[in-house]
Amino acid sequence: SAAEKGGYDYFMLKEIAEQPKAVSDTLLGRIDGSGSLTLDEVRIPPGVLREVDKVVIVACGTAFHAGLIAKYAIEHWTRIPCEVELASEFRYRDPILDQRTLVVAISQSGETMDTLMALRHAREQGAKVLAICNTNGSTIPRESDAVLYTHAGPEVAVASTKAFLTQLVACYLVALYLGQVRGTKFGDEIRDVVRDLSGVSDAVGRVLETMEPVRELARSLAHKDTVLFLGRHVGYPVALEGALKLKELAYMHAEGFAAGELKHGPIALIEEDLPVVVVVPSPRGRSVLHDKIVSNIQEIRARGARTIVIAEENDEAVAPYADHLIRVPATPTLLQPLVATVPLQVFACELATARGNEVDQPRNLAKSVTVE
Ligand code: AGP
Repeated sequence: SAAEKGGYDYFMLKEIAEQPKAVSDTLLGRIDGSGSLTLDEVRIPPGVLREVDKVVIVACGTAFHAGLIAKYAIEHWTRIPCEVELASEFRYRDPILDQRTLVVAISQSGETMDTLMALRHAREQGAKVLAICNTNGSTIPRESDAVLYTHAGPEVAVASTKAFLTQLVACYLVALYLGQVRGTKFGDEIRDVVRDLSGVSDAVGRVLETMEPVRELARSLAHKDTVLFLGRHVGYPVALEGALKLKELAYMHAEGFAAGELKHGPIALIEEDLPVVVVVPSPRGRSVLHDKIVSNIQEIRARGARTIVIAEENDEAVAPYADHLIRVPATPTLLQPLVATVPLQVFACELATARGNEVDQPRNLAKSVTVE
């Protein structure tokens, strides 16, 4: 009913709008102003976490994309090697796991069969399993050694939005917590990031206030067959997520690529007026990556692409090459996916509407996939 949708036409729109609160609720009680973390719910003793020598993340779909982003954060802040694998592939390759492996299973519903089977396999090999989950008491957290709940609230739309942002927050918390427990040399940086995280909810709110041009752009592309997405570093999984949203909702051919891979094949796809969404890393900090992506944008534009550029406020260098420029607030590099994903959700939702598709219940899909 309309009331359940809080006055929005679709649950998805409501859930997109709820993201600032979902993010702050997921941080609530877990970080403090001095930059330290309390994750008492993670009932894996610090002594065990100090011995972990490998992290393996298993998940499906959007949750898998959160895992891909988590890898950058975990490896950077903890220096523990981290693998991310599609849950449906994981156990079939006889993965190498033991008591020093921490497996992180990410799932909104907590009922995804592929993820459940992956975590059962991991526990049989002696690994410790930490679930990141949005559904209290569901199967995946019940069968894990510990759980960190995302506090997104119920997500009804099949296309995941607020659950994804809170999965990212939970992944950052796990990475920072592991860093804190293990006392890495990134101690100061960890404290700064913990503080930065508390500002992210407002940043997401600011993105939501500037979405009208994105909706307008989506409507103007409703007749297109293909949209490509490019990103680098943590922007690469954001590109994959943007493409997945568009497939699910708009039933369009959409693909995400690592921008650096372009020249190894995908650039052959570029043709006149093809929309290409590019997620641009911050020009601060990792400016090498920024320069490289700017030249990628020039390359595709020279071949006729219509460039839709998601860039930080004050990033002037990309402006001349952007046919459409979508601004997001400046955030530390690793946190950028929290703001950069939001326009892609709005974009896909509006395209689905413009194409006459059912937004909350896309064809052929179920909210939670309880078969392998
Ligand atoms: C996301 O928009 C999808 N509907 C889908 O990829 C989903 O993320 C995936 O099936 C995993 O679900 P889970 O988080 O409930 O395990």
